[in-house]
Amino acid sequence: MNIDQNTALYGVIGNPVRHSLGPVMHNAAFSAAMINAVYLAFEVEDIKASLQGMAALGIKGLSVTTPFKSAVIPFLDEMDPLAVRIGAVNTIVNREGRLKGYDTDATGAVKALEEKMVLKGLHSMIIGAGGAARAIGFSLKERGVRISIANRSPQRGASLARDLDCPYLPLNRTGVKKVDLLVQTTPVGMFPHEGESPVSEEMFHEDLVAMDIIYNPRETTFLKMAKARGAATIDGLGMFVHQGAEQFLLWTGVDPPFEIMYRAVESRLGESST
Ligand SMILES: NC(=O)c1ccc[n+]([C@@H]2O[C@H](COP(=O)([O-])OP(=O)(O)OC[C@H]3O[C@@H](n4cnc5c(N)ncnc54)[C@H](OP(=O)(O)O)[C@@H]3O)[C@@H](O)[C@H]2O)c1
Repeated sequence: MNIDQNTALYGVIGNPVRHSLGPVMHNAAFSAAMINAVYLAFEVEDIKASLQGMAALGIKGLSVTTPFKSAVIPFLDEMDPLAVRIGAVNTIVNREGRLKGYDTDATGAVKALEEKMVLKGLHSMIIGAGGAARAIGFSLKERGVRISIANRSPQRGASLARDLDCPYLPLNRTGVKKVDLLVQTTPVGMFPHEGESPVSEEMFHEDLVAMDIIYNPRETTFLKMAKARGAATIDGLGMFVHQGAEQFLLWTGVDPPFEIMYRAVESRLGESST
């Protein structure tokens, strides 16, 4: 890669952010598509100043990760309607100094699921009620999936359930409901919660598809428990690359090199687990 006076800058803002594999994925994509651009990780604290900096420096696009997916909204000039409905932004596009927010988590999750199954008519349960759960909940509902929400804090869980017009269950009562699709969206299972699962093994059965949106580690305790009880499993890598591919398209207008992006992240994950 040649960095010169015309190199465009992209990146991810979050805190913490050093674990992000966004740079691995997007730099592989820029290189494969022969786009003169680099993508860096910015661990930030002041979100207003960060977005002012984005506009002032002409940073062309940013991914947004925890804990800023809602916090960025007041500082944007424009929002895509899907991001408005979800109430979260994971992608910012800078078009001549105007910052527009999008959500690509919803599409990413649904594409990863639709690669494996037909969604319409399924009964699902989403574990968690944060930004990712919101995005996935809205997009599953649009696909005709019945949903229930299980979350640690009743207030947040009930609030998302209200917005989705669906039932809420406390985390310790998830076993009372038999579902076809279980989507795990909490950070439980990744550092520093490896070895933990937010639900107990009675949730898993042979007719279930269990998806964990965590991609590092690829096989979380939740997925190990699901597999042991005969459920089909989907890890978080497909969603991560699909949401990244959607970002790449929004930023560049170029068809994303999906396979290259997938392999770049997969091989880095392979290195870190050895
Ligand atoms: N694969 C992908 O492309 C992708 C995309 C987006 C996010 N993610 C992953 O998804 C996870 C969540 O992201 P997010 O943006 O939705 O985060 P978030 O908005 O902070 O929400 C986190 C959710 O997890 C719950 N939670 C946190 N710690 C918990 C614990 N110890 N026990 C039980 N529940 C707990 C929270 O419950 P309370 O309401 O009780 O606090 C909340 O519902 C992260 O691990 C992130 O890396 C993956």
